[in-house]
Amino acid sequence: MSTPIVIDCDPGHDDAIAILLALASPEVELRAVTTVAGNQTLEKTTRNALQVLELAGRSDIPLAAGADAPLRRHLRTAADIHGETGLDGPNLPQPTTRPVDAHAAELLADAIEPGVVLVPTGPLTNIALLLERHPDVRDRLDRIVWMGGAIGLGNSTPAAEFNAFVDPEAAAAVFSSGIPITMIGLDVTHQALFVTEHAARLRNTGSVGRTVAELADFFLPVYRRFGFSGAPMHDAMAVAHVIDPTLVATLECNVAIETRSQYCDGRTVADRWHVLDAPRNARVSIDVEAERFLELLVARISSLR
Ligand code: RIB
Ligand code: CA
Repeated sequence: MSTPIVIDCDPGHDDAIAILLALASPEVELRAVTTVAGNQTLEKTTRNALQVLELAGRSDIPLAAGADAPLRRHLRTAADIHGETGLDGPNLPQPTTRPVDAHAAELLADAIEPGVVLVPTGPLTNIALLLERHPDVRDRLDRIVWMGGAIGLGNSTPAAEFNAFVDPEAAAAVFSSGIPITMIGLDVTHQALFVTEHAARLRNTGSVGRTVAELADFFLPVYRRFGFSGAPMHDAMAVAHVIDPTLVATLECNVAIETRSQYCDGRTVADRWHVLDAPRNARVSIDVEAERFLELLVARISSLR
């Protein structure tokens, strides 16, 4: 029995690989994809998502574009990490398909029914808009598995992880919505580094594997600049958590989002040791079986052609 999922993303190298992992895994059924501005502008993240679905021969999956800016802040993109296209590295053909003629919030509202897991892998702007425009979705959305946040250090600022930093108000709205949310944060994604050997194992497995290897050819040197030995496939870990919940250890605690700070806006303030008398509104990732995750990722991607 596969779990139906919807991915809201900002491709982005790791978003692209998360989509491909979902398409390669019988444990999940990708029902829809929505895009948000984040790693790059909405136009670019939407084009990139279309390219990935076409690469995998899955343009049957509906895709809708969403917010082109955070709820209340100026958009900050990550060209330094993902390049000017947002998916630098492979030379993918321009997409021949187009998004559906509806906002992401509408496609999400239509796609979400009991049993569906929502997997955002970018800023939470579309999810906040979904909750604003369709409050009844709270009654039929079982859970959210979000790649974002961190108990420890951030990556956009010392305090904040990128997806939370881009739109702290949206993250605050989602974490206070009452919808069960699991936060797959930097504390675990930084433990599982995709290295050149993984890329080499994929390069000759077909067009998808070659494309992932070429994504890695761009992405790995970016992380080496920060002293990493490989690249964290952040977003793929959120999908992997739905595929196999035993990969990532989580604990329930209170998570609040900082929105009014000079230095810490976007911080996911996780009460890891329950020192506050605050509701335990989230499950936060605290450990991962890194090698098992990476092997799953390589095995599944190599099964695509
Ligand atoms: O901080 C990492 C996250 O920000 C990932 O989702 C990456 O794709 C970017 O969106
Ligand atoms: Ca992302």
